[in-house]
Amino acid sequence: MKEFKRYTVTAALPYTNGPVHIGHIAGVYLPADIYCRYLRMQERDVIFVCGSDENGIPITLKAKKEGITPQQLVDKYHKIISESFAEFGISFDIYHRTSSPLHYETASEIFKTLYDKGIFEEQTSMQYYDEEAGQFLADRYINGTCPNCGFDKAYGDQCENCGTSLSPTDLINPRSMLSGQKPVRKETTHWYLPLDKFQPALEKYILEDHTEWKPNVYGQCKSWLDQGLQPRAVTRDLDWGVPVPIEGAQGKVLYVWFDAPIGYISATKALTPEWEKYWKDPETRLLHFIGKDNIVFHCIVFPAILMAEGSYILADNVPANEFLNLEGEKISTSRNWAVWLNEYLIDFPNMQDVLRYVLCSTAPETKDNDFTWKDFQARNNNELLAILGNFINRVAVLTFKYTGGIVPQSKPGPAEIALGLEIAAFPLKISAAVEEFHFRDALSEVMNLARLGNRYLAETEPWKLKEGQEERLHTILNTVLQLSANLSILCEPFLPYTANKLREFLNLGKLNWNDAGRIDLLEPGKQLKQPGLLFRKVEDEEVEIQIEKLQASKRQNQVLNVRPLKEEVSFESFSAMDIRIGIILEAEKVPKTKKLLKLLIDTGIDKRSVVSGIAEYFDPRKIIGQQVSILVNLAPRMIKGIESHGMILMAENSAGELSFIQSTGLQETGSEIR
Ligand code: MF3
Ligand code: ZN
Repeated sequence: MKEFKRYTVTAALPYTNGPVHIGHIAGVYLPADIYCRYLRMQERDVIFVCGSDENGIPITLKAKKEGITPQQLVDKYHKIISESFAEFGISFDIYHRTSSPLHYETASEIFKTLYDKGIFEEQTSMQYYDEEAGQFLADRYINGTCPNCGFDKAYGDQCENCGTSLSPTDLINPRSMLSGQKPVRKETTHWYLPLDKFQPALEKYILEDHTEWKPNVYGQCKSWLDQGLQPRAVTRDLDWGVPVPIEGAQGKVLYVWFDAPIGYISATKALTPEWEKYWKDPETRLLHFIGKDNIVFHCIVFPAILMAEGSYILADNVPANEFLNLEGEKISTSRNWAVWLNEYLIDFPNMQDVLRYVLCSTAPETKDNDFTWKDFQARNNNELLAILGNFINRVAVLTFKYTGGIVPQSKPGPAEIALGLEIAAFPLKISAAVEEFHFRDALSEVMNLARLGNRYLAETEPWKLKEGQEERLHTILNTVLQLSANLSILCEPFLPYTANKLREFLNLGKLNWNDAGRIDLLEPGKQLKQPGLLFRKVEDEEVEIQIEKLQASKRQNQVLNVRPLKEEVSFESFSAMDIRIGIILEAEKVPKTKKLLKLLIDTGIDKRSVVSGIAEYFDPRKIIGQQVSILVNLAPRMIKGIESHGMILMAENSAGELSFIQSTGLQETGSEIR
């Protein structure tokens, strides 16, 4: 492989319209962070850049929904996102913003360069327009039925069900997301990036020069190229974003996917005056970490922009991941089916590495994968705690017991020499996996090193040695301490908080990757410090709370299945209903029926019989004394030979389960419900 002088690593700029969730972390930020931490430990010149994606319709739509301005929205979420990344140990060198003047300047400049070079095609066409909202409807402002798969909530730019990229005019039955109305067509002018003209160059760049890209990335690019690229509009009629920097373009801004990737460049400018060497020197390796929904923009659109500009390098690799599901279902921001990073950090304080471990172990590297809370608990309790935590704990307990926490001398025997050889092989195994972006394999090798330590202790049983065997005892302790020092280096990219605690315990400064593999990292005579606990058990209740939290959002979302609104009624018809608080005095099944109960109800006015279809849900013996709401002036009806005088009101959920409506206050029997 080509040797590079330096690395520019980018992680997709998250939309600043909500917090980030575990899907983002597992797919993008954690792998990128592991890679950058690893490169830094190799003492390579690397910058890790990211920032908030603050333009575009995802922002304006959400701001409208929250009833605040786009600026207020991005300020709010920029703070939440950047703080949670920092606390989670995502080690960006800079976390910038695309609403910043520097970004506006950078994006405008690149647009202007392309414009002056005559790259764009100017086209006037009829586009969807919402007359009520007074706005053109691009991208996510419009939805309708996908012409490809029939999904009825496809957006104007993409169908999230089948992944096809769309334009608003492709949608069947288009509807405005602003007013819900059927839009009209109106004329507007935009600038198009003629991707078709870049097709040959892109084919060479990807299909010939980068056959090493991950199959999912290469495959998606190939299918785009095989279909033939089309010109793509890079401007929008919108009042939020980077204004189109040319005459006669009032009221128009750059398409968010034009300016967002340029955000990587503006972030680098904000980071260092030497930004150009990270973007223009062919000896720099540019890498984009992204999720699979961003592939076309990073592999085709952005490279075409950079090619057109002419002075930039192109990405050498785009290690995109697939998606992470949650408890068997697709993560969804709008349905609140997610584990939000900021909430995790509150619910599990000081447990960053546990989530890092679980998300790295289940990262969707080659296919979609599933996160479950049970698995989270199992991986913590049975792997982190039982293997790594247990090993370090034993090493610490033994050293403080036998040598008062001082690194003893070693006289390696055959077992130690063999172990030393095994330890020496780990750095390379782990590097090889990391360099290939196989982070799961790399992390499992780290755990194998801890397993090796446990096995060595089990075989040598230092606690069984007798007086007079101190030399052997000291050798064993020295060996497991050296192994621990290796762990402190090799786990750093994955578990930086644990690595820190290990270095504190071992009284070690920060070592480099190249130090790993040696078994003389700790000098005999060195004083160690009592380590704190590395990991703690995750209890069943904690996991149940999280599962309950998810179930609660599911219940909230069942609103989706509600029946349509009934016809309007007058106030008079409503107040004609006499509804009271009553109490069930007697209940019995109506013979030869499945659903019916005969109830005797005290209504406060009288005691009366009511036949109610609730027998499938309630045991008659258990509802005696139950408070109910009852419509008392309903005309009597004969049901199965019994006269029923009124109707009990029940709430029914989407599964058809019933529950009583009772007062939460102290209303006595006979109180009116109005
Ligand atoms: N905001 C986009 C998303 O969340 C990603 C933007 S990546 C960049 O899908 F290249 F545009 F920066
Ligand atoms: Zn579709």
